[in-house]
Amino acid sequence: MTQEDPRILKLREMRAKARQGGGENRIAKQHEKGKLTARERLDQLFDPGTFQEMEAFITRRNDPPLNESTETFLGDGVITGYGQVNGRTVFAYAQDFTVMGGALGEMQSHKICRIMDLAAQNGSPIIGMIDSGGARIQEGVRSLGGYARIFKRNSLYSGVVPQISLILGPCAGGAAYSPALTDLIIMVEKQSYMFLTGPEVIKSVTGEMVDFENLGGAAVHLTTSGTAHLVARDEGDALTLCRNALSYLPNNNVENPPVIAPADDPLRMDKDLNQIIPQDTSMPYNMHEIIQRVVDRSSLLELQSAFAQNAIIGFARMNGSTVGIVAQEPSVIAGVIDIDAADKICRFVRLCDCFNIPLVTFVDSPGFLPGVNQEHRGIIRHGAKVLYAYANATVPKVSIVTRKAYGGAYVVMSSKYLGTDMTYAWPSAEIAVMGPEGAANILYRKQIEDAEDKEAERKKLTEQFRAQFLNPYAAAQAGYIDEVIEPCETRAKLIAALSALREKQVSTPNRKHGNIPV
Ligand code: HXC
Repeated sequence: MTQEDPRILKLREMRAKARQGGGENRIAKQHEKGKLTARERLDQLFDPGTFQEMEAFITRRNDPPLNESTETFLGDGVITGYGQVNGRTVFAYAQDFTVMGGALGEMQSHKICRIMDLAAQNGSPIIGMIDSGGARIQEGVRSLGGYARIFKRNSLYSGVVPQISLILGPCAGGAAYSPALTDLIIMVEKQSYMFLTGPEVIKSVTGEMVDFENLGGAAVHLTTSGTAHLVARDEGDALTLCRNALSYLPNNNVENPPVIAPADDPLRMDKDLNQIIPQDTSMPYNMHEIIQRVVDRSSLLELQSAFAQNAIIGFARMNGSTVGIVAQEPSVIAGVIDIDAADKICRFVRLCDCFNIPLVTFVDSPGFLPGVNQEHRGIIRHGAKVLYAYANATVPKVSIVTRKAYGGAYVVMSSKYLGTDMTYAWPSAEIAVMGPEGAANILYRKQIEDAEDKEAERKKLTEQFRAQFLNPYAAAQAGYIDEVIEPCETRAKLIAALSALREKQVSTPNRKHGNIPV
């Protein structure tokens, strides 16, 4: 038997060492916490056997300001590489918590930046798996600079290739800003948490007592801060969600999203839709149900589902092609637009526009949320950014007014002269400057004041205004709505419109970039 070449044995030994990360004990500790290791995560993300690792032997620099006693690990706490997800090339990095808690140092940042550069140059998505204690304390300014290099790339490649962040453990300090710059953030229930300053620092500065979960757990970021787009039950679920989210997105900004073989009849007429809007216009209904009935069956992937629930955003498919859905939910505070809803809608519209995803907007909103609190917190600039996002979006845009489109809500929500290509209204649509009660009070104030029975007069004039103006026909006659359609026709009409708009080209004035109100 011939002896193995010792140089090959050395390589095998190095590879085995790199695979050990922070060592058996720390791997066991990671498993005890119910967490996968970085390598196990990558294996689950990529199609079997396709992941190719890069720079596995990199180690930290061995000179000041590093502490001589600090251990050195092959790979420096992050695994980087590329492979196939559903047959498409994707670049990814996964921080290895078993090496100094996944904390980011100079060489780790070098590895992450290299993957990001390759992804952008080759027009492929970037997936980041975060499990990190933030800036590596021993490396001082080099770790801070490392974050700056990553943030620069997150920003420059925003709108160039899709960037998705999976938060699979701690995401502390500097670690939190990189995901915040990416397109989608996926967290795991009771396992991941994101914060800039931890409970200890908060206690010493403000005196507030809070634990990790209540400070920055998945539930907080899904419901309160709006930072998380999707929350998974466990890591396996998070990786499946990531693969699913990728299936709606193109590889880059010059390609179109993948089209899948449609499994649903494009001409399907859903007669139940004709009954869905209550006769009593003050009664709520469920907009989610309308969306589910119109898009390809089971294709809706709702994002930020528990944040600003008066607005709905998400990806879906129409006849197999990706669309971005924006809507109001009239069963949550009547579907008014408040600051959080404006934030949610604006960023999603821009995400779709970056990646050539047509926008379908369902409108039912009585307007912006009135109140001193909203005005003082800047509803003007927040509302303005929804206008800015729709007006600047050059992807195909289609809208459907299902019921109320009063005042600012009509204008802001993909109205015709913001550049919406096809505008539809259901017979139940009420397109007006304001609701009938408010309008009657202003228009007929004197007549109401002079009446013997003021309330009866107010009611009569309100109903008169409603009959005259609160329908879709005034808007259709004035050319502000392209077509009034039966609800059951919506799916077929949208598919026809999106097909006609597929090759849409628009030119916009030359500029460096606009100045979005934020
Ligand atoms: C170096 C770190 C580290 C860090 C953790 N470790 N965080 N090493 N730099 N930032 C190491 C620990 O020493 C330990 O090493 C291993 O990682 C695991 O840490 P544990 O504390 O044992 O784990 P756990 O109990 O699970 O707690 C994890 C943790 C905690 C919550 C992340 O370690 C922690 O609070 N770390 C600091 C978080 C933080 O405040 N980061 C902000 C940094 S400042 P051994 O050898 O025992 O395995 C920052 C600013 C950047 O990021 C700003 C840019 C804009």
